[in-house]
Order: sequence, then structure tokens, then C-alpha cells
Amino acid sequence: MLGRWSILCVAVVLLHVSSARDLRTVTEPKIPQSCTVLKATSGDETTTIQNALDKCAKGKAVELSSGTFSSGPLTVPSGVSLLVNSGATLKAIPNPALYDEGKKTCGTLDNYGVGCKPFITIRGATGSGIYGKGTIDGQGGETMTGKSESWWKLARRAKAKNNFQNNPKMIQVNDSSDITLYQITLKNGPYYHVYSSNTYGLTIWGITIDTSPSSRNTDGVDPMGSQNITIAHCNISTGDDNVANKAMDRPTAHVSILNNHFGRGHGMSIGSEIMYGVSDVTVSNLTLDGPNYGLRIKSNRYRGGVVTGVTYTNVCITNVKNPIFMDMNYERRTGKLTPSFQNITFNNIKVLTEGDYTFNGLSDSNPIEVTLNDVHVVKNSKWVSSHAKISGTYEEGATGTTCGNAGYQ
Ligand SMILES: *[C@@H]1O[C@H](CO)[C@@H](O)[C@H](O)[C@H]1NC(C)=O
Ligand SMILES: *[C@@H]1O[C@H](CO)[C@@H](O)[C@H](O)[C@H]1NC(C)=O
Ligand SMILES: *[C@@H]1O[C@H](CO)[C@@H](O)[C@H](O)[C@H]1NC(C)=O
Ligand SMILES: *[C@@H]1O[C@H](CO)[C@@H](O)[C@H](O)[C@H]1NC(C)=O
Ligand SMILES: *[C@@H]1O[C@H](CO)[C@@H](O)[C@H](O)[C@H]1NC(C)=O
Repeated sequence: MLGRWSILCVAVVLLHVSSARDLRTVTEPKIPQSCTVLKATSGDETTTIQNALDKCAKGKAVELSSGTFSSGPLTVPSGVSLLVNSGATLKAIPNPALYDEGKKTCGTLDNYGVGCKPFITIRGATGSGIYGKGTIDGQGGETMTGKSESWWKLARRAKAKNNFQNNPKMIQVNDSSDITLYQITLKNGPYYHVYSSNTYGLTIWGITIDTSPSSRNTDGVDPMGSQNITIAHCNISTGDDNVANKAMDRPTAHVSILNNHFGRGHGMSIGSEIMYGVSDVTVSNLTLDGPNYGLRIKSNRYRGGVVTGVTYTNVCITNVKNPIFMDMNYERRTGKLTPSFQNITFNNIKVLTEGDYTFNGLSDSNPIEVTLNDVHVVKNSKWVSSHAKISGTYEEGATGTTCGNAGYQ
């Protein structure tokens, strides 16, 4: 009787585990054939690249072969890809006028921060992508044309003045499906690097994001209201969240974050904008070295919603002040929404340096619910929990000094 009961339980558990991920079968992407090959000149190549993209047959890619290409905003059409070869760099010209949405606010401060087009837009597309071992450089630290400061300095001034910088995102994917980013290096983003909205089927594989940790709001990858997402074999260092799953206008669900390495940044995050819920997220084989947060879920009554079905497995953490940080009252913001964090599971987590652990629920009737299995930390770590239902426990005495590339392959 007992035997049959436990078999049933195992089956139920397996069913649950297997849905908490990208539901697609995702394999390493293949670079599409080129429809045309472009060589760099020394001028502004926006028109040349855009014309080539517009003429390219579906299923093929415009190839930037070598040298430095300078460009203003580009749109990658449906079914078409951009291929930046190793040896080629695509630089975003730091001229706010090129990105302006029509109100002449790009490159200035205001109360909205939505005055710029992205550098690369993919919208209403199926099967588009950005490929290659080359680099896309957002030039966030370069002085803007006609101004005396860089995009990053503008962002710092926004903080001091308590308003918003109008800076371009690097890659914005909207209302699309089956989109791929493969191998590319993104650096110096003026603002978020990769931002998806209302997109179903997004594969980000083997990319590098390498941006100064002192830059503001330069999130690595932000899936927003998107589903069936895989972020695998990536190396992300930046100035804000390395990855942040958000849900401001529709749910984000079925996310697989596999075999990655995160350096400086604000960690592997969910939130804070989760009004429509974030569910079924698997984070496996992750090394974190140096971000100020490790595994983080943050929300509050102002931006709250349900976070459920999140599993972290095989994570190794070093040099992180807050290795695990779960806060339902983030920044103490008030509002009418109710955040709820349930079904959060930690399996085989190793933290090799001292840090602070936070589990902060909203109330005893709405606690954080987490399960700890094989969580190993070092001595002198500080655990703070309130309104938290924690099953399982952690052990002190984690050994080793570096994670190496435990997860990242
Ligand atoms: C996610 O992928 C699965 C498997 O391909 C598919 O059945 C499902 O419809 C997709 N979900 C969304 C929201 O597109
Ligand atoms: C893309 O989606 C974002 C977030 O939902 C939105 O702010 C932006 O205006 C959209 N852009 C386009 C070109 O549709
Ligand atoms: C990640 O990328 C950075 C910047 O390119 C590089 O210095 C670092 O060695 C990479 N880390 C791993 C684990 O490959
Ligand atoms: C995690 O890494 C292990 C060891 O390299 C590997 O066997 C396993 O397939 C990886 N897990 C995932 C989900 O990729
Ligand atoms: C755990 O999450 C799954 C979805 O991932 C959901 O079906 C289930 O009801 C949740 N369990 C609890 C106790 O909330």
C-alpha cells in the first residue's frame, strides 16, 4: 500500500518538475546561410545594412564580415537574421537624434524614459535572429553627439535627480515567436541589453554580455510577458540584473536558464514587476561570481503577483553579498496588489563565501514558501527570515574556494 502510494507521489513530482521549463525541445542553434556579405566602410552604414536586411530572403542572414560598422537603429524583419562574424563589430552611433521617438527627448531626462527607439528592433517576427562570434557595441560610455556626457552619465544624473534617462535599449523583441540570439557578444549597452515582450519561443544560446558594473539599468536579459524561453551557455556581466524575469502586462512562464556563468551584476532575478505572474522557471547549472545578489526574487504590493514553480538546481556562488534574497516587501513600496512566492525549490546550492540570506514574506497568512535540499553555505553567514515557511534546512561547512566552471559549459 505504502509502496503504491509512493510510486504515485513520484509520478506527480515528475510531472510537476517536467513542466517547470521551456516546453519546446531546444538544441544548439545553427547559423543560417548568408543572403549577402557586407564589408565595413568608415561611414554611417545604417541605410546599407537596413536595405540589405529588407531585401534578404526569409531563412537567410545579412552577414557583416569584418571591420567596424557604425549604425543607427536597425529593424530585423520577420524570418531574416543578422550575422556578425568574428572580427566584425557593429557599433551603435551615440547620436540621440537617430533614436528619437519624435518628441526630441532621446538623450535627455524626463519623467517617463521612453523617448528612444532601441538600437535593434525585432517586431511581429517569426524565425528571426542575431548570430555570430562578432560584437555589438552599444557605446554606452561614449559622449553623445551634440552633448557633453555619455548615455551612462545621463543615467547616473537621472538617479541623482530622481527622474528617468531616455536611453536606447540594445535589442528589443516584441510580439514575435521563434527568435534566436546565438554566440554574439553584446557590450556597453546604454540601457537594457535584451528585452523581450509578448514573445513565445526565444532561444538565447552561447552569448556574452560584457558591460561595466558601474553602468545603471543595463540589465542583461529581461523576458517580459514572454513564454518558452531558453537562456543557455551564456556569460553575463553587467551593471544591473544579469537576468530578470518580469510580467507587467502578461504572464511570463516556462523559462529554462541552463549552464550559464554570471559575473558582476545584480544577479539571477525574478521581479519586481510581476503583476501577471511568473511561473515554471528552471535555473540549472549556474555559477555566480561577483554580482551583489545571487538568486533573487523581489516584489511588493505595488508590483506584486504570483511567483510559483521556480527551481534552482546545481548553483555555485562566490563573492556575492546576498547569495539568496527573496523579498515580498521590496523597497517597502505600498499598493493594492498582493505578491505571493510559492513552490520555490533550491537543490544542491553551494555558496563558498560569507553572505546574507533573506527570506522576507508579507505576513503570516501570506508567507514565502521555499524548500531547501542540499544547501551548503560557509560559517558566519547571516540568515534573516520573517513570514517564511522554509522546508528543509541548510548546512554550514561548504568547502572549496572557487566554483570553476561547474555549470557553465
Ligand atoms: C510552448 O511550447 C510548447 C511546445 O512547443 C507549445 O505546445 C506551447 O503552445 C508553447 N507555449 C506558448 C505560450 O506559445
Ligand atoms: C515593445 O514592448 C514594450 C514593452 O511592452 C513597449 O514598451 C514598447 O513600446 C514596444 N515597442 C514596439 C515597437 O512595439
Ligand atoms: C566571461 O566573459 C568575460 C568577458 O568577456 C571573460 O573575461 C570571462 O573569462 C568569461 N568567463 C568565463 C567563465 O568564460
Ligand atoms: C548540468 O551539468 C551536468 C554536468 O555537466 C550535466 O550532466 C547536465 O546535463 C546539466 N544539466 C542541464 C539541465 O543542462
Ligand atoms: C506548485 O506549482 C505548480 C505549478 O508549477 C502548481 O500546479 C502547484 O499547485 C503548486 N503547488 C503549491 C503547493 O502551490
